[in-house]
Amino acid sequence: MQYKLDTSETPSSNKSDCIVVAVFFNKEHSNKEHSDKKNASLGDAARQLDEVSNGALTEIIDSGDFKGDLEQTQMLYKVEGVEASRVLMLGCGDQDSFDTVALNKAVKAASKSIKSSGIKSLSFYLADTFSADNVAQASTQIVIAHGDCDYQLLDYKSDAKDESKLQKVKVALTTFDNVNQTEIKIAIENGAAIVEGMRLAKDLANRPGNVCTPSYIAEQSEIVAKDYKDITIDILEEKDMEKLGMGSFLSVSKGSDEPGKMIILEYTGALDKKGAKNKKQAPIALVGKGITFDTGGISLKPGASMDEMKFDMGGAAGMLGTLKACAEMKLPINVVVVLAAAENMPSGRASKPGDIVTSMAGKTIEVLNTDAEGRLVLCDALTYVGKYKPEVVIDAATLTGACIVALGHHICAVLSNNEELASDILAAGKTINDRAWQLPMGDDYKKQLKSSFADLGNIGAGGAGTITAACFLGEFTKEYKWAHLDIAGTAWEGKDSTGRPVPLLSQYLINRAAEQ
Ligand code: BES
Ligand code: MN
Ligand code: ZN
Repeated sequence: MQYKLDTSETPSSNKSDCIVVAVFFNKEHSNKEHSDKKNASLGDAARQLDEVSNGALTEIIDSGDFKGDLEQTQMLYKVEGVEASRVLMLGCGDQDSFDTVALNKAVKAASKSIKSSGIKSLSFYLADTFSADNVAQASTQIVIAHGDCDYQLLDYKSDAKDESKLQKVKVALTTFDNVNQTEIKIAIENGAAIVEGMRLAKDLANRPGNVCTPSYIAEQSEIVAKDYKDITIDILEEKDMEKLGMGSFLSVSKGSDEPGKMIILEYTGALDKKGAKNKKQAPIALVGKGITFDTGGISLKPGASMDEMKFDMGGAAGMLGTLKACAEMKLPINVVVVLAAAENMPSGRASKPGDIVTSMAGKTIEVLNTDAEGRLVLCDALTYVGKYKPEVVIDAATLTGACIVALGHHICAVLSNNEELASDILAAGKTINDRAWQLPMGDDYKKQLKSSFADLGNIGAGGAGTITAACFLGEFTKEYKWAHLDIAGTAWEGKDSTGRPVPLLSQYLINRAAEQ
């Protein structure tokens, strides 16, 4: 899919197969004192089309069929005076509360409504319903919302094929007065890069556990490294991890016939004052949980919905996707990604509850529950990444069911040992509409991880499962600024990967790059 800025002069002269215009719900109409008010109010582009067509849009509103409710759509064909063969009236709800969240929903509704049509080119007149400062951000959001909706994995259905004819999606503006076109173009390109990253993350996560093994993640990572000259890759095999003393990681992978892999990708984008590559600049480190299937191990999970545990590598998929987006955007920063990929299986070689293992950091861990495996693979990855002297470390993991209890499927949890980092992450999430919510940490919670025999237990007694899991990781991240994203609720929805947290982390990297 091509995402571009639409340079048509006016909505009525736009030659796309379909143009999408905003119509807002008029809440004053329901108030009897204002019965003279229209049912709905037209956005700027819609008003212009209404004028050239002698009221074609107003007529529909007056009929009472279209009220501008958020996500409502109405297709009009061959509107008088309008070059485009189709006009899609898109309900955007109350204009006062039309933010990027509502924009995302509206764009998805429009995209879905034209999915199996003959439309090849589509122009959205939505970005400049926002104030001038926010047009660029709205442009990015339009691209992401469309791209998110446009994705499907059909590889495993014998007779399914992609029926969409759509090739070009454009962000159109009613007027170019006071618009910085370069800024909007970059915003659209960033959106397209994030869509690519999300697509990669979804492709990995949606694939079944018998295809997407640790070796498959390694192969896909190698493809990413080959595609971008600024990315290099190194893969640690189990024997390498043994030498490094990663007893915690290996205690998870040893129960499986699929060998575990620690995949390290380095992106060098930072530039020095002369414009040459600056390999010395401290990198931003991204660490992903890559459990390609989580049976729970000997602490076996119940059967219902266990298929969804193929998504337990969503953190790794998200980090690889973010790296791809970063390389696409050519951000002038250094990034190192570590993917801790393993399968959690019960077998004669699997860890048993009560086993004690020694992590790379030297801390001993009592494996009280083999289903708390994510933190066991992550702690060694987090120790390993310390050697890069990272500026900050962010990990993403589908770590705890408790996170779904706390925040559901809309917002991921962020826990951190650094307030500035946490607030940077929260801000990025808000900007790009991929939200996070901070949960506390602290000694009281850390104490819940006490073990009778080892330095740490791998589960916390007495509630707050998302926090105690983060506190466990926090024991391995004291040397640097660190934040943990628990994406258990947000990495997939129903039976589909969401591609999150690629948008959040991409925006975080964009913000960091802007500080350079
Ligand atoms: N991958 C799961 C967490 C999970 C569960 C994510 C359901 C999404 C949906 C993780 O490895 C796990 O099993 N966590 C346990 C931890 C417990 C044993 C302390 C959990 O949350 O039940
Ligand atoms: Mn588990
Ligand atoms: Zn897991």
